[in-house]
Amino acid sequence: MTTPTIVLVGAGRIGTHLAQRLKGKGLPVAQVISRTAAHARALAELLRTDWSDDWSEIRQDADWVILAVRDDAIEPVARLLAPYVAETLVTHTSGATPGAVLAPYFERFGVFYPLQSFSPTRMPIWSKIPFCVDAQREADLAFLKKVAKVIGNLVYQVNDEQRAVLHVAAVFANNFANHCFAIAEKILEDTDLPFDMLHPLMEETLAKALQESPARMQTGPAVRGDVDTILRHVEQLKPYPELRDLYLNLSKNINPALALPRGTKPKKS
Ligand SMILES: NC(=O)c1ccc[n+]([C@@H]2O[C@H](COP(=O)([O-])OP(=O)(O)OC[C@H]3O[C@@H](n4cnc5c(N)ncnc54)[C@H](OP(=O)(O)O)[C@@H]3O)[C@@H](O)[C@H]2O)c1
Repeated sequence: MTTPTIVLVGAGRIGTHLAQRLKGKGLPVAQVISRTAAHARALAELLRTDWSDDWSEIRQDADWVILAVRDDAIEPVARLLAPYVAETLVTHTSGATPGAVLAPYFERFGVFYPLQSFSPTRMPIWSKIPFCVDAQREADLAFLKKVAKVIGNLVYQVNDEQRAVLHVAAVFANNFANHCFAIAEKILEDTDLPFDMLHPLMEETLAKALQESPARMQTGPAVRGDVDTILRHVEQLKPYPELRDLYLNLSKNINPALALPRGTKPKKS
């Protein structure tokens, strides 16, 4: 593939990881633009490339502009950039935002969404990340697929509706699952028990969920209909009143036939 002129807008978590991976695969970012000068400069120095905090300085000869800004900033930033790159391919990296938000501003738009959770302290395993791409024009779609294949391995064409569904599912699989781990950590810490003791159980939970349908692998008092144990747990959760309904709602969701006594039913939220 001939080297495209790539402009990265945003210098946050995904922008930083993506730009380094693109560079590593011979697709260097030619310019970093970000709202906060210090962030744009820091990433540009890491990449040894140009930077700006002035939208009007965006390279007008860009072949591809990647909007890696917060979800709620995508549309306002698109509006600011539109006068300079109206005919350039512009994509965002959001799972939760329709590609169509770019339609009023650019003739050629799309989405380049890596379905993974990126953090500054962890190196992404690019070969395992599903890249969800979409574009209005066939040639742009082909380009995005090609780039995704160069920097990753798993490439899917996913439209706005499908990506919205994926994103909801990802919130359950990642954000909510992680929150449950955090709750477990807090409860153990408060009792001076090491969280490490749960690590093997957490690893086994994930291994089993990957091996088979998680619905079939469900264990615990709720799926067994073991009301006595559930009531004891509710009693133990007294120091955490905010967790009572969460515990009961999850239990009811696992087993809708669960016969809880009056007074212990979860409040409808
Ligand atoms: N992180 C992930 O795990 C992940 C995974 C997949 C997709 N995504 C998507 O990638 C995009 C960026 O996420 P991120 O995690 O990289 O976010 P982030 O680390 O919080 O970085 C956000 C970036 O948005 C810019 N920004 C925020 N508000 C702005 C505004 N009002 N106007 C202009 N720029 C603004 C910030 O600019 P300054 O720093 O210069 O102020 C920063 O560069 C989002 O659409 C997100 O949904 C993230």
